[in-house]
Amino acid sequence: MESESSASTVRGSTVYLTRKFPEPVSRILEPLFEIALNHSDSPVGRDELLSHIERADGLLCTLNDQIDREALDIAQKLKIISTYSVGYDHIDVENATARGIYVTNTPDVLTDATADLTFALMLALSRRIVEGHNLVFNREWDMPWFPSFMLGNDLSKKTLGIVGFGRIGRAVAKRARGFGMKIRYHNSVKVSKAVEVEHDATYSPLETLLMESDFVSIHLPLTDKTRKLISYEMIRLMKQSAYLINTSRGMIVDESGLADALRREEIAGAALDVFVTEPLAETSPLLEVNNILLTPHLGSATVGTRYRMGEMAASDIRNVLLGIEPVSLVNSGVRRRPI
Ligand code: GLV
Repeated sequence: MESESSASTVRGSTVYLTRKFPEPVSRILEPLFEIALNHSDSPVGRDELLSHIERADGLLCTLNDQIDREALDIAQKLKIISTYSVGYDHIDVENATARGIYVTNTPDVLTDATADLTFALMLALSRRIVEGHNLVFNREWDMPWFPSFMLGNDLSKKTLGIVGFGRIGRAVAKRARGFGMKIRYHNSVKVSKAVEVEHDATYSPLETLLMESDFVSIHLPLTDKTRKLISYEMIRLMKQSAYLINTSRGMIVDESGLADALRREEIAGAALDVFVTEPLAETSPLLEVNNILLTPHLGSATVGTRYRMGEMAASDIRNVLLGIEPVSLVNSGVRRRPI
């Protein structure tokens, strides 16, 4: 359904929302623009997506909407692509920039939620929480307490290797300090001494970090350089007692290599919130191993975080369509299309 055009809309600009979004989105955008909206939680078909992109001035999309060259080729008047995510690997940013289309995202507001989930996964994995719950819930807990029952591993005094030391990686480091962990990080560029001191974090080359960490947590953006960076060969560098956690993008880890390493018990376990294909295919090798914990892309999934993401994503559409600079611009070199 498309809302009716009203006298208060800004020069008849249309914004296409590819999903149902939380309340701030309509509160910010509806008084100003014509809204075209997919009312469902499911993505629309590609043809429908393209036909809306063809006519839209602003686009609010999710990480599942591929805004590639084909989509940009037909966009007649598009001025802003605002993604309701921190990651923007689903958008052809270079192409958008060449066409004068702003690309914005929602960093910062989801940092804590994602770092919290990373920690929840680390704890659940190392302390066997899901296994324990299933035992009790399935009425299979049949022995009173005994000293060797369901032993897990401590976090305290262990080394956490953080791969990708941006906002989320650092927020994970902050939590890890509270748990008494030692922090190593790897990043494409070494961070400043001040940041290292603030987080009590030591830089390591990736291979060394993998070899020496008890927990390895991935916090990288997906790029051509990071795709399948965590290959089977890399995973094999890890200690047999170590755990791998990924809350960034599935394509950074070689899933079948990880499944092989887990099946052969070359590492102790893995927790994944993100996958190459989402939802995870029933045939995925990851579903054939036991020492794994899987969640359905929940990194930013809290009520408060999603609300703030909505405010941020919608505000930047409003800003750009009103001729104001957006708060969270991905393509800083862009020269705007005329409004
Ligand atoms: C989620 O994965 C995001 O990029 O925000």
